[in-house]
Amino acid sequence: MAGRLDGKVAIVTGGATGIGGGTVLRLAAEGARVLIADVSEETANQRAGMVRDQGGTAEVFRADMTQHDDIRAMVQAAVQKFGRLDILVNNAYGPTGPGGQGSAVEVTEDGWDRTMGLLVKSMFLTTKYAIPELRKAGGGAIVNISSVHGLLTAPGKLLYETGKGAVISLTRQLAVEYGPDNIRVNAICPGHIVTERIAERTWKENQSGLRFFEAQYPLRRTGRPVDIANAIVFLVSEEASFITGHALAVDGGLTLQLQEDFAVNMVKYAREHPDLQLPY
Ligand SMILES: NC(=O)c1ccc[n+]([C@@H]2O[C@H](COP(=O)([O-])OP(=O)(O)OC[C@H]3O[C@@H](n4cnc5c(N)ncnc54)[C@H](O)[C@@H]3O)[C@@H](O)[C@H]2O)c1
Repeated sequence: MAGRLDGKVAIVTGGATGIGGGTVLRLAAEGARVLIADVSEETANQRAGMVRDQGGTAEVFRADMTQHDDIRAMVQAAVQKFGRLDILVNNAYGPTGPGGQGSAVEVTEDGWDRTMGLLVKSMFLTTKYAIPELRKAGGGAIVNISSVHGLLTAPGKLLYETGKGAVISLTRQLAVEYGPDNIRVNAICPGHIVTERIAERTWKENQSGLRFFEAQYPLRRTGRPVDIANAIVFLVSEEASFITGHALAVDGGLTLQLQEDFAVNMVKYAREHPDLQLPY
């Protein structure tokens, strides 16, 4: 059966595991040849093996998305190995060292530079080198992974919220800039996705915590890497050929809700004040 991405070549940054790993498998299953770009070469090789086991094509390129030279070489490698570039998925994220956590008072200048470097500057650089190749291919599609934290905000997360918000602005800017070249650029805002890392570190010893977390979602579950991968496949496929500049929440409805405490408190308040005319 023909795949939706037959003949296409894709780069997935951070494609060794998690959301990126799931995306690599889905893109390859639809016929794309995939370059897995990741700092973790060993895990990336395991992922490439999984692709080959399912009959697909994947190669590994070790690249650190905080390093300009690595990013330039990554795009060159995709074109050298596969002859063209059609799809770029900007997904990589990981620890960036001290000084990057907390509010503006706690975050250090170095922490800001390193964390924003990985969250945002990396996407500027991958795009800078990918665009000329996408043009040569007659157009293409970029998907930038933001977060529900790019749409809403929570205290104590200065850099993640600011960076993921910037990813959405970057996406819109690029969509307008390169639309005339038939290059579409969209962002995805995942809710909580239980990746291999999160399953092991956060929930393995705390299943009741996971159940509580799931109950906060209108769909009563958290996400899986394949949920994001499926949305990415759609956005880079011909079926989405008139869709650009979007920030698509793939979050089980999480961002549709008011904060539960707020809603509960408002109901309580309204019961205690029957004459109150609420504005909604
Ligand atoms: N998992 C979630 O709940 C969730 C929710 C919203 C958004 N996101 C976003 O999705 C993306 C993927 O997250 P994930 O949870 O799958 O992460 P993950 O930790 O499971 O996987 C991240 C991958 O990126 C690689 N990586 C880390 N730093 C890198 C660097 N400097 N250069 C190249 N590769 C690097 C890692 O080796 C790993 O393979 C991130 O942008 C994250 O912010 C995740």
